[in-house]
Amino acid sequence: PADLRELLLSKIADVPDYPQAGVVFKDITPLLADPDAFGKLTDALAGVSAEFGATKIVALEARGFILAAPVAVKAGVGFVPVRKAGKLPGATLGQSYALEYGHATIEIQADALGPGDRVLVIDDVLATGGTADASLTLIRRSGAEVAGVAVLLELGFLDGREKLAVGLDGAPLEALITV
Ligand code: PRP
Ligand code: MG
Repeated sequence: PADLRELLLSKIADVPDYPQAGVVFKDITPLLADPDAFGKLTDALAGVSAEFGATKIVALEARGFILAAPVAVKAGVGFVPVRKAGKLPGATLGQSYALEYGHATIEIQADALGPGDRVLVIDDVLATGGTADASLTLIRRSGAEVAGVAVLLELGFLDGREKLAVGLDGAPLEALITV
């Protein structure tokens, strides 16, 4: 709804030239500091989880963790972390993806998901889509089904939605706000 979008947008700060010149950083910390707005955000994402029929939530380190943990509790589904490489014990699956310069790798525990799981990916921001796309590859390699992706904020001008089209394979992408 429009009033939720307006509330959430009013709590996201634009920080010019961070972390580098020419980039406008979307700072969600004012939203996190407001229990009314944070509560409404996590209620909305828990509603998306129910709507998509998710049985697990995959959360993307680090900022995705902050949003996804209360959502998983509210939705009554398990929380599965996808972490930057080298942080998870035991057998893992890894997936590299391109950054503007170079590449990064994310990992999931090899036994965290399996057939029968319907997985919702939660992150704060969809920018180029590289991070979310790599997480979808990990979910499919785990043998699980993709229920969808949900983000607080989609940066539409970076075309992340197009990048996710193959990985989503018809599953929905929900952005509470698009700029
Ligand atoms: C940011 C953001 C998303 C990702 C979006 O995370 O939190 O996860 O970038 O960008 P993309 O769509 O181009 O992949 P970042 O990797 O900066 O790290 P953090 O969440 O650990 O702060
Ligand atoms: Mg992130």
